[in-house]
Amino acid sequence: MINKYKSIIEKKYNEYDEDERFERKSQRFEYLTTMRYIQKYLKKGCKILEIGAGTGRYSIALAKMGYDVTAVDLVDKNLQVLRQKSKGLKNLTSLQGDAMDLSMLEDNQFDIVLNLGPMYHLFNKEDKDKAIAESIRVCKTNGILMFAYLSHASIVWGYGVRKGEILSLANCLEKDGRIKDIPEEVFSSFYIEDFAKQFDNTGTKFLKNIATDGVAPMMRDYIDDKISEEEYNLLLEWHFATCERLDQQGLSSHLLYICQKE
Ligand SMILES: C[S@@+](CC[C@H](N)C(=O)[O-])C[C@H]1O[C@@H](n2cnc3c(N)ncnc32)[C@H](O)[C@@H]1O
Repeated sequence: MINKYKSIIEKKYNEYDEDERFERKSQRFEYLTTMRYIQKYLKKGCKILEIGAGTGRYSIALAKMGYDVTAVDLVDKNLQVLRQKSKGLKNLTSLQGDAMDLSMLEDNQFDIVLNLGPMYHLFNKEDKDKAIAESIRVCKTNGILMFAYLSHASIVWGYGVRKGEILSLANCLEKDGRIKDIPEEVFSSFYIEDFAKQFDNTGTKFLKNIATDGVAPMMRDYIDDKISEEEYNLLLEWHFATCERLDQQGLSSHLLYICQKE
């Protein structure tokens, strides 16, 4: 295991109920949107890898649909929950591992590679490039790769403003609005163009960039507690209709970069 920040990441998830995250209406936007896009690329019999599978929200749902799923995560606590919840699912294999080193997996194996979490917790260019290269390596030619990432806006609005912590961000903010990668701060965030640039010369073709939750997590207090079912459904449909638009992407908390291996 080569992740020198493992203890920081582990501490975060040991203190946090990852499994409860998508129970909130505001946070289900991300899950429902990501699932919609995964489903667009599913083909009968395809082999799926999820890296950073957490407690198995996506992996278990996909395995229950009958796909052959391999789930990898760095953090023991999350894997234990995933294993408990997926007991009896013979088409789901779970492995402890690091997105930067998937040497336990052979090249060109998976039709769909989901990297839904590790990019939030990598703090320098070399590590980010390694994680991207490993995802691409294990994907089949013409296979689909999806990478979840956080926007700088999610840290400023979703953490700084919503939690009243703007001043504590002062030492992380660059003059151009970027947020510095500081491992102790646990989360790494991106501008859309910086995220895309990492894929230059990787032998992949860009397909889509999706705003998976827009400003929903930033409006959490309203969406979770005050909105009616009818209003929620209308908002969700509007979000699905607009989540590929540039004007939604810039402010989205979570983003999804989708590409194809050439
Ligand atoms: C926010 S959770 C997302 C979990 C799941 N993919 C989901 O969206 O519900 C991020 C997950 O990535 C895992 N993770 C972080 N860095 C990783 C790395 N370098 N390699 C593998 N997993 C990693 C964490 O342990 C955590 O379970």
